[in-house]
Amino acid sequence: MIKDIPKNMLNELSRLISTHTGLHFPEKKWNALNKGIKSVINDLDTDIHQFIRCLHSSPPKNIIDSLTARLTIGETYFLRDKNFFQILQDHILRGVIEHPKRKTKKIIFWSAGCASGEEPYSIAILIDQMSPVLKNWDITIIGSDINPVALNKARKGIYSNWSLRGTPEKIIKKYFTPTAGNYFEIAPHIRQMVRFFQLNLMDDNYPASLNFYEAMDIILCRNVLMYFNEQGRNSAIQKLSQLLIENGWLITGPAESGFVNLSEFSSVRFPNALYHRKGPPRKTIENFNPIRISRKVHSTRPTVTVKSGKRFTDRKYVRRITDGVVTRPPKKQKYVMYQEALNDYNRGDYLQSVKKLLTIISKGKNNNNSFLMKTESMILLAKSYANIGELAQAKTWCEKAINTEKLNPEIYYLLSTIFQSSGNIDDSVKSLKQSIYLDPEFIMAHFTLGMLLLQKNAPAESRKSMQNALSLLELQGAEEVLPYSEGMAAGRLIETIKSMKTN
Ligand SMILES: C[S@@+](CC[C@H](N)C(=O)[O-])C[C@H]1O[C@@H](n2cnc3c(N)ncnc32)[C@H](O)[C@@H]1O
Repeated sequence: MIKDIPKNMLNELSRLISTHTGLHFPEKKWNALNKGIKSVINDLDTDIHQFIRCLHSSPPKNIIDSLTARLTIGETYFLRDKNFFQILQDHILRGVIEHPKRKTKKIIFWSAGCASGEEPYSIAILIDQMSPVLKNWDITIIGSDINPVALNKARKGIYSNWSLRGTPEKIIKKYFTPTAGNYFEIAPHIRQMVRFFQLNLMDDNYPASLNFYEAMDIILCRNVLMYFNEQGRNSAIQKLSQLLIENGWLITGPAESGFVNLSEFSSVRFPNALYHRKGPPRKTIENFNPIRISRKVHSTRPTVTVKSGKRFTDRKYVRRITDGVVTRPPKKQKYVMYQEALNDYNRGDYLQSVKKLLTIISKGKNNNNSFLMKTESMILLAKSYANIGELAQAKTWCEKAINTEKLNPEIYYLLSTIFQSSGNIDDSVKSLKQSIYLDPEFIMAHFTLGMLLLQKNAPAESRKSMQNALSLLELQGAEEVLPYSEGMAAGRLIETIKSMKTN
């Protein structure tokens, strides 16, 4: 067995790895770094000294591949952050499609840091759902990642339940085929819509080394920048900006929008989201109805030099993306209505949120494109009813939400809390078990189950659940706030469990 790596070496390794991959390993992540590097050394059948020497020069591809396969976090799932997909559909794409002056019917998406492909395939599914309005449009979707193992999985297009935990049943039925071992294979026509390639966003030669001949309309770089240090983030954003068409969009993860500070971009605020568009500021969506061009659109041309030395400007035409005047006033978009309901809910005005959510859900009937916020609306409706003490309604809507997303552990958790409020401990336990079945790492579900089992006078079973929670908690930083805990940090829950007499 390889010995633990000394601290001075971890320090040096963290610096070298950051240079080659952008990945940031501050001291608090050295446990993970130590574990990852030991595996890499094992994979490559080398020793730590030789490995460090190699990183000091220009490491060959197999070393970077092995490093990234062991050190990157590829956590992702289909339709992650539905608010984004709803904004993409209702605002961003609508602006592109309906712009009367748009000359070319072409949109290029790039998911940079796509992990195992769930993100670019989600775009493909959305585009397919929108096919009546996107008829005759030429859509290109590209996915890239540094990690070759993740890319292989992406190309195969076979996923477990876990990747589909936020995907509506209707979408699973339409776009996936169950395969052996409880896996789901993506429909061939969706797989064919996405092309994958390996790319290190920190590579010195990129973007010049890319064989792209056209700039991107929409770049998604979500939940990637957060793993880089400041220098890595700025360099990645700078390069992405070069590959983006004038007025094109850069979409980051919800926690990453503050990283984009380049003057090339202006920020556009949406309810609960902030995205960036290349070019000077334009009208915000608060003044959204109808959308107007706030400045004369000029034909600034993207100027990325490609390998051959050619420039994009050599192309016959230059495409622009814009959200200029639309021909008909927009209906109130789903993401706006949902966010209004969410604001009502957060203010404690549950009656108002109920009213709005019922409207959203009923409007969704017979509307193909309403699949995105439907479950979220049902979940919020169930919570609103629970808060006004209408537990029967809360249960009904929670069950309806489960029917639309059967693989979502969070809805079963919500149902368990509704059963608990109604004093129905047996059904609450059943829902928690279902939730844990779908997500064995759901800490609060293990803990709550432990508490209920104690209440049901089953101390041995309760101890098992608490032990499960503890083992998972030990993998978290003490300060990390636990999802579904109403703000409790991991360290605090560890203390609580340890102080309980049964453990
Ligand atoms: C958490 S996943 C994000 C997946 C997806 N974008 C999402 O939001 O669900 C982060 C991905 O960034 C990739 N990544 C990390 N460093 C990278 C780099 N230097 N170049 C390209 N991709 C990188 C990782 O391999 C990993 O697959």
